[in-house]
Amino acid sequence: MLVCPTKAEVRSLVAGYRRARRTVALVPTMGYLHEGHLALVREAKRQAEKVIVSIFVNPTQFGPNEDLDSYPRDTDRDLALLEQEGVDGVFLPSPEEMYGTGGATFVEVPELSGMLQGVLRPGHFRGVSTVVTKLFNIVQPDAAVFGEKDYQQLTLIRQMVRDLDMPIEIMGHPTVREEDGLALSSRNVRLSESHRQQAVVLSKALSVAEDAAKTDPDIENLKTVIHETLNDAPDGKVESVDIRDAKTLAEVVGHPARPVVALLAVRFGSVLLIDQRVIANLLTVVDGNKGNQI
Ligand code: PAJ
Repeated sequence: MLVCPTKAEVRSLVAGYRRARRTVALVPTMGYLHEGHLALVREAKRQAEKVIVSIFVNPTQFGPNEDLDSYPRDTDRDLALLEQEGVDGVFLPSPEEMYGTGGATFVEVPELSGMLQGVLRPGHFRGVSTVVTKLFNIVQPDAAVFGEKDYQQLTLIRQMVRDLDMPIEIMGHPTVREEDGLALSSRNVRLSESHRQQAVVLSKALSVAEDAAKTDPDIENLKTVIHETLNDAPDGKVESVDIRDAKTLAEVVGHPARPVVALLAVRFGSVLLIDQRVIANLLTVVDGNKGNQI
């Protein structure tokens, strides 16, 4: 496994793979890796012959009052884990290497970056789409893997790649969870013991909503049952509960015909947790007389 602290080194590594006609997949991360990231790496290995992982805590996607400085970091451990997974190259730039004296140009997907999490975190998605474009230009992979956990991020990157004709296949991977259902996140280590226990309400609320959708898929009803479940966590400050079209993230009302996604953001102390679930079976209507599904 080759660790590349500069753009030039990773470019030359990938150029060698290209000359040997190898396919390349990229997994962008901010490090402090857990099983969720490693699942993306395994998916990348299934999809391409060579896998590059980037580790870069991207300052431009953190707001002034966010957790850039306290974002957890452990590069030695990350590299050991990636070596075990059989990763071929790691791009590990410093902020200076990544942005240098530049930083005057941004890539933005205004509609998708201005809604949902983007309202709570102004500028966040502009930082994400810009750094991901830079990573794509530096590594030039055939494919890149992203987690569904960051559903709005995945949707936005798909849109950006389509709109700007980037020749990269974007693959989504389902959320990897703890045994009690909590979505794995680098931020989970910063939860107190009590908050960690309460944090299970996010995935519980999504399961409750999924069940409720089978009998009454009205959007307002789903939001109500989600709020009721989230209220079980005394220290959880509910930042947002949204139900949107699963493909476009457009607003939906009533009984939508297409799959929806429920997106939650709940704050425990200074830690903002997010989770999501696609609810696809809204069309299922049970015929009460015959007990048949029609
Ligand atoms: P980071 O939070 O480190 O996440 C890197 C990738 O891992 C993202 O695609 C994210 O969705 C995925 N991921 C995180 N937790 C996961 C889980 N429990 N199950 C499955 N996948 C999971 O997302 C970022 O970094 C950054 O915004 C980045 C895209 C690297 C741009 O800076």
